[in-house]
Amino acid sequence: MSAGIERIKTGIPGLDELFYGGIPKRNIVLLSGGPGTGKTIFSQQYLYYGLQQNEPGVLVTLEEHPVQVRRNMSTFGWEVRKYEENGTFAIVDAFTGGIGESAKREKYIVKSVDEVTELVDVIRQAIKDIRAERVAIDSVSTLYLTKPAMARGVLMQLKRVLSGLGTTALLVSQVSVTERGFGGPGVEHAVDGILRLDLDEIEGELIRSLIIWKMRGTKHDLHRRPFEITDRGIVVYPNKTIRTRGEAIRIVEQSNQGGEENE
Ligand SMILES: Nc1ncnc2c1ncn2[C@@H]1O[C@H](COP(=O)(O)OP(=O)(O)OP(=O)(O)O)[C@@H](O)[C@H]1O
Ligand SMILES: [Mg+2]
Repeated sequence: MSAGIERIKTGIPGLDELFYGGIPKRNIVLLSGGPGTGKTIFSQQYLYYGLQQNEPGVLVTLEEHPVQVRRNMSTFGWEVRKYEENGTFAIVDAFTGGIGESAKREKYIVKSVDEVTELVDVIRQAIKDIRAERVAIDSVSTLYLTKPAMARGVLMQLKRVLSGLGTTALLVSQVSVTERGFGGPGVEHAVDGILRLDLDEIEGELIRSLIIWKMRGTKHDLHRRPFEITDRGIVVYPNKTIRTRGEAIRIVEQSNQGGEENE
């Protein structure tokens, strides 16, 4: 049994019970999915929950302006300003390159992401300054889109600092709508866990679901579970499952823990 290990709760309603209490501490988890599947919201929710539990967090943004990140988070009621001011939350700006008026107000800026060393140095500094326990990087795909052969090397560098400093991290990985993988073999085997978010069209309606593909150090649920994005963030339905048969997908309500569903 893995009952004795330390776990980090995502705080996402319905999700933690799927890994028997939370993500094993120091695991580096790939959060993989197509466009609009909820990866950014998921990682922000994970960090904000931590802040409420006195677990400091670092958000590394590579795809959105830090100003936009704060604004988007506040639409879910996740106000990070006060945590930035009291030194328990930091945004690492790896988006603007330090260019622009508002970028000048950012404390942690990565000038160029072509050289991963600089990125890793800034992340390390931010983690140490605020004693971060949670980190999210949105997204790591940006770091090796044009050079897939570098993916594993980049991942291992990040993993060493993230896990080495004791954090439990989410690495957002972008995949195309049709791709079955999670971001390439170099990445998939290097990480400790893989969470896959999906969006499928069922009878003209887009249905969200997630599946835990791997999670080192713990037993975990193996079903595809539907979730929703609400005004308060992501809500997972741990007792519902989604069945695929060829191209057909349907949601079924589980009647008991044994997993038998009502037809
Ligand atoms: N307040 C809200 N209520 C319900 N759904 C929302 C709300 N805000 C955003 N969404 C949904 O969340 C989606 C965006 O989620 P998110 O930004 O996390 O996606 P992503 O996986 O990061 O996508 P990308 O790979 O393009 O960055 C929107 O397309 C929308 O469907
Ligand atoms: Mg995103």
